[in-house]
Order: sequence, then structure tokens, then C-alpha cells
Amino acid sequence: MSSLWGVVPAAGSGRRMASEVPKQYLKIAGSPLLEHTLRGLLACADLRGLVVVLDPGDRRADAVGSLSDPRISSAPGGAERADSVLSGLNSLAGVAAPDDWVLVHDAARPCLPLSDLQNLISVVRERGMGGLLAQPLSDTVKRVDDGLRVVETLDRQMLWRAQTPQMFRVSELQGALEDMRRQGLVVTDEASAMEQAGYGVQIVEGSPCNLKVTVPDDLMLAEHYLKTMAARRV
Ligand code: CTP
Ligand code: MG
Repeated sequence: MSSLWGVVPAAGSGRRMASEVPKQYLKIAGSPLLEHTLRGLLACADLRGLVVVLDPGDRRADAVGSLSDPRISSAPGGAERADSVLSGLNSLAGVAAPDDWVLVHDAARPCLPLSDLQNLISVVRERGMGGLLAQPLSDTVKRVDDGLRVVETLDRQMLWRAQTPQMFRVSELQGALEDMRRQGLVVTDEASAMEQAGYGVQIVEGSPCNLKVTVPDDLMLAEHYLKTMAARRV
């Protein structure tokens, strides 16, 4: 069976969080956010190795205990998220086989339930098609013009919010991201690059708690989810 690897892009500056400390190092529920994210992935015994992509000038990572786990290595980040992911994939090149699977998971998603992760892995492996966790929309969705005038109401049954992890074959994802870079196109998730390269991509339903911590209000919510998840485990 093909091995499973992970890449965690953690080299962003967290502009929308507007805090001096990049959001992946802000403390929630007693530990840096990145620590929770890494624990969430390391809980999966199937994972052979995990590359954490860090800003090369960043000294704060030294305080993240899980980074010394034997399954973890690091790689230098790039200007955009996709550049950081590609850097992580390149560093897997020597150890991973082209057909191996890789999970890409945002450092900024510290509340990933193990059951969602295991579900994604088993559905993708079973069907042999890459995929991502996503959430159905509960709000009605409007498309607007430049003046914020509503152009249409979209059918939300057909719309999903993309989360991470996103799981693809190592060499296919690397090729798709390199193609995007060559064309000067910026993608905000791996699935977009795979779709544009013509690969099938499937959705696996995830949980609302797997939020991406983006703005200050998200910190309280993430802390609440982490505490609830910890209480359920004991
Ligand atoms: N990321 C990265 N390298 C970049 C940009 C982002 O590794 N050049 C990572 C972030 O650290 C984060 C994940 O990609 O874990 C998702 O990106 P996002 O939530 O947008 O984080 P930031 O880019 O840091 O935040 P912002 O867009 O508000 O600046
Ligand atoms: Mg960003």
C-alpha cells in the first residue's frame, strides 16, 4: 500500500489576525496553535512523516514541542501559500514515492477531529481519487456585482466550503502546483490546482469545528472547540 505523508504550511504572517505574533504561534488552550495542529495530525498512526513549512527567519518555532517528534522535518516557506506547499513537497522528494499520498493541512486549523482525518484517508484510498474535507453551506448565498448589487441567489445545495486536509498523490500535486506557478496563477488550495490540471477531486464531509483561525474572534471559537474535544476524549 502507498505510504501517507503530510505537509503543513505554517509560513504565513497572519495579516488578517493583525497581531504582532504570527497566528500559528498564538497560545490557545495552553499551547501554541501550531502545536494543536501538529498533534491532530500526529494522532494518525498511518502518517509516515510530516514536513512543517516555516518562515526561514522564524525563531518562534523552537517553542513548539511537537516539532521535535521523529516523524517531523521542516522546509523553508515561500511568498504565497502554494509556494510554501511546493517547498514542502520538494523536500519529500527524496523519501516519498511518486504514487504515495500526501495530506496538506493548514497550520491555522488546530481543531481537526481524528474521525474526520481517518474518514478522508479511507474514502480517498478506497476510491483512488484525491479529495478534501469540506462543509455544506447553511447560509443563503448571493452573487453580487462591483456595486454590491445582488446579481443572483446561488443554489447552496451545490456549494461547499473547502477545508483542509486535502489529500492527493505526491507527484500529481507537485506537477499541478508547478503548472500553476509557471502560468503565474495563484491558488488558495491544492484542490484548485488539481481541478485546473484536469484531475477528479472528491469532497468528504467534515465538521464545522475544523475552522481556519483567520481573524481575532476565531481564537475564542477554536479554544472552545479544543476544550470540548479534549473533554470528550476523557
Ligand atoms: N501560509 C504559508 N506560506 C505563505 C502563506 C500562508 O505557509 N506564504 C500558511 C499559513 O501559515 C496558514 C495557511 O497557509 O497556516 C493558510 O493561510 P492563511 O490562513 O491565509 O494564513 P496567512 O496567510 O498567515 O494569513 P493572512 O492571509 O491573513 O495573512
Ligand atoms: Mg493568507
